[in-house]
Amino acid sequence: MASIQVKPMIINNVCLTTHPDGCAAMVNEQIDWSKAQKKIDGPKNALIIGCSTGYGLSSRIAAAFSSGAGTIGVSFEKLPTAKKTGSPGFYNNAEFDKKSQEAGIYSKTLNGDAYSNDIKEEVISLIKEKFEKVDLIVYSLASPVRMDPATGILHKSTLKPIGETFAAKSVDFMKEIVKEFTIEPAGEGDVENTVKVMGGEDWEIWINMLSEAGVLAEGVKTVAYSYIGPEVTATVYRKGTIGKAKENLEATGLKLDEKLKPIGGRAFVSVNKALVTRASAYIPVVSLYISILFKIMKAKGNHEGCMEQIYRLYDERLYVEGETPVDSEGRIRIDDLEMREDIQAEVSVLWDKVSTETLSEVTDIIGYRKDFLQLHGFDVEGIDYGKDVVLED
Ligand SMILES: NC(=O)c1ccc[n+]([C@@H]2O[C@H](COP(=O)([O-])OP(=O)(O)OC[C@H]3O[C@@H](n4cnc5c(N)ncnc54)[C@H](O)[C@@H]3O)[C@@H](O)[C@H]2O)c1
Repeated sequence: MASIQVKPMIINNVCLTTHPDGCAAMVNEQIDWSKAQKKIDGPKNALIIGCSTGYGLSSRIAAAFSSGAGTIGVSFEKLPTAKKTGSPGFYNNAEFDKKSQEAGIYSKTLNGDAYSNDIKEEVISLIKEKFEKVDLIVYSLASPVRMDPATGILHKSTLKPIGETFAAKSVDFMKEIVKEFTIEPAGEGDVENTVKVMGGEDWEIWINMLSEAGVLAEGVKTVAYSYIGPEVTATVYRKGTIGKAKENLEATGLKLDEKLKPIGGRAFVSVNKALVTRASAYIPVVSLYISILFKIMKAKGNHEGCMEQIYRLYDERLYVEGETPVDSEGRIRIDDLEMREDIQAEVSVLWDKVSTETLSEVTDIIGYRKDFLQLHGFDVEGIDYGKDVVLED
């Protein structure tokens, strides 16, 4: 049994190591928060696709610990080896399963490619065996690639502007340096490939397969997550290749909503707040925007993390008496606080001021970095980082 001391190893805003005890503690923090809230008359049997980190993990925790739902989770994780720790989601899933079992709540996590038909079939068998039917399906994948099972083609998503070069500020949050950077416009196939990976096609395949297998409960709800964001990130995000994928996801939501009507079901896309997750840390410009946003929202006392966002999604949107509140395009908006006019006006002012010299004054770079490290189990209170970590069992 190999054991080593684990320290954060971060290259270009990507962390290559994970601390198992820190991850477990962070999962427990969310579970404890969720348990302390008012109970929601929400899902009973939930399927969470992309369950291991970020919004998907919080969706699973809220389903299980605020609503008592049994959950099946799907995610794609790296297992630990004799030399290297596993991915954060590997440890998060293990802790979630452990705590669910201790609480007498059913939970089973499948590690595999959610885009494949094999895992979909495996999930369907499990639903039939354990739940009969599911009444909530959360689709929360963030992936750089998708192998289309119908063609065997591997599609790669990109984060590129369309038709113009994008020049903006970005931050190296470990070195606390603000840099100018440019991204060249999308080339041939970039939009189509990004839509293939992050658009709605796979969500639709999931719902179709679940429907054909007869495992969707009367009144089933399904939700996928989108993002809009501010003007400063628009060229590379909402108006860029990923924005096209999100438009496609949102159109799929409307289509699925129609499809589910005969069984009293609903499909929604929820536009969520920008938060520090493994996926968002990777997007240039977004980390700098988030650290400014956090500074403003923390000062106003309306900052939320993934857990608070998802609890509010269930409690005030998905599981309300009567109609779910949506915007003019049929989307749920829990980015409402982020997008408030006063908050975005302050973002614009601070965006113009931000530089390496002013970083600590105009942004919450410390909070951003702490959140990032904690995603990987580091910088968590009460963890003894001097102690060896067991790798493979
Ligand atoms: N983070 C944000 O600021 C933000 C804001 C609004 C919306 N969103 C959206 O929320 C969704 C989830 O993003 P996140 O930020 O929580 O990301 P994340 O990286 O924390 O989580 C992604 C999840 O997808 C899983 N996954 C990736 N590829 C997979 C595959 N092939 N098979 C199975 N599982 C796979 C990962 O294991 C993980 O559980 C995305 O659609 C994202 O665009 C994110």
